[in-house]
Amino acid sequence: MEKASVYIHTKFHNGRVDERIFGGFLEHLGRAVYQGVFEPDSNKADEDGFRRDVMAALKKLNMTAMRWPGGNFASGYHWMDGIGPKDKRPVVLDLAWQSLEPNQFGTDEFIRLCKKMDWQPMITVNLGTGTPEEAGKWVEYCNLPAGTIYANMRVENKSTQPYGVKLWCLGNEMDGIWQLGHLPSEHYAIKAQQAAKIMKDIDKNIELVVCGSCSISMPTYMEWDRVVLDYCWDFVDYISLHRYVGNYNNDTYDFVAVANSIDRQIEEMAAVCAFVKAKKKSNKNVYLCFDEWNVWYKNHEKDGKGKFAPNLLEEIYNLEDAIVVAEFLMSFIRHADVVKIANIAQIVNVIAPVLTRKQDILIQSIFYPFEMISKRRKGISLKAFVEGKTYESKSYGEISYIDACAIQDKENLHIFLINRSLEKTIELSIDPADIEIEKVENAEILTGKDPKAANSFENKEEIIPEDFCQIKTSGGKAVCEIPPFSFVAITFKVI
Ligand code: AHR
Repeated sequence: MEKASVYIHTKFHNGRVDERIFGGFLEHLGRAVYQGVFEPDSNKADEDGFRRDVMAALKKLNMTAMRWPGGNFASGYHWMDGIGPKDKRPVVLDLAWQSLEPNQFGTDEFIRLCKKMDWQPMITVNLGTGTPEEAGKWVEYCNLPAGTIYANMRVENKSTQPYGVKLWCLGNEMDGIWQLGHLPSEHYAIKAQQAAKIMKDIDKNIELVVCGSCSISMPTYMEWDRVVLDYCWDFVDYISLHRYVGNYNNDTYDFVAVANSIDRQIEEMAAVCAFVKAKKKSNKNVYLCFDEWNVWYKNHEKDGKGKFAPNLLEEIYNLEDAIVVAEFLMSFIRHADVVKIANIAQIVNVIAPVLTRKQDILIQSIFYPFEMISKRRKGISLKAFVEGKTYESKSYGEISYIDACAIQDKENLHIFLINRSLEKTIELSIDPADIEIEKVENAEILTGKDPKAANSFENKEEIIPEDFCQIKTSGGKAVCEIPPFSFVAITFKVI
């Protein structure tokens, strides 16, 4: 049998995992909001119109920061359309997705949902067709006590206490020509800086995310980021990264090697931050906010044709997609020193782990790696050194068959492992240098009959995690047999 080893030492670490990397993203797009989380006339809805089955499923992921209302939608959204009596709210044409937006779900509904779900709200202001002043008024509406015009509006809308929204994004993908109100880097940087100043003057406790490059393939990649950081350094706390990946050439080995490129994207963005920090001789840090990430390449239906809640971007996910989703999260954990927030795009119906029908719900394959890691997320990210066979991928260079990362939470050691081989079981030894593995606390595996296997409404359990028993512990170490093309999550008791 093929062999490999993972070595760790608790003194060699990347710092504490920020739990906000288990965030989500809810956009007014297709059936994400309406018929996704919010469907008041459904028999599945609770007293506030939220779908109980969707909430119950998402609760299992224990998501943290929830980004809303977009995405591209945010760049044409005027938040005041979405507050006040529902029968007075305007129906508007959303230009980003060519859909009808009835504004029945707005700021107050979003905050109510966040409270029910224990999510930390993360609001994207409109720096496309909107103004810095409009963004400031939104912060006032959400965060100031009664006494001024916009805070009073919140009170009139039956929320006496401020919402305390801490995380705000300064627009969305403003480097993209498709974005409403797209601007060249310097123009965006000035607008973002103006908005940041107003917003922080209204509430100095908020944290701001400035738009970084929305893709590594943008012609302005890195240069955009340098310019934006140069202007906004003293005003912002995070810079955003986005990444959507896909198996475009139907080459599984190449697809699952994308982890190399995700690691590299993070390291490049961290390098621009370090460059600007050094240039400015600054003592503050700007961290990374990976506020859109996922597999997305099969469904590109983006035109809502003027309809309400059209079926857009309803991607079906299979086993190889789930492996890549695990790779994203493992990369964020490996880079815990710089990646502080991340939001899987998105949470329901639109490129999402959960799909709804009127009376039914489907849990997709990518739900499970998120759940398996999220429930083991607390602790310090340890550097995991992998020794084992590698292969040369077509697009992303040399990569190990085994991917590994580790989190230590006192006497619990969580290990996450991927076997990229499509044919071979790998016997893997886990060898901690300065602690001893005492026993296996629990372990799960996600695998399937082939990389394209997927759950469907007809067969909901094609890809689901199972208990993983192929682990032996002795002499403070562990040896496990990792089956081909699988993702494994183990919690050990250590001394
Ligand atoms: O998540 C779907 C879309 O992808 C978002 O609206 C946009 O920001 C990105 O291009």
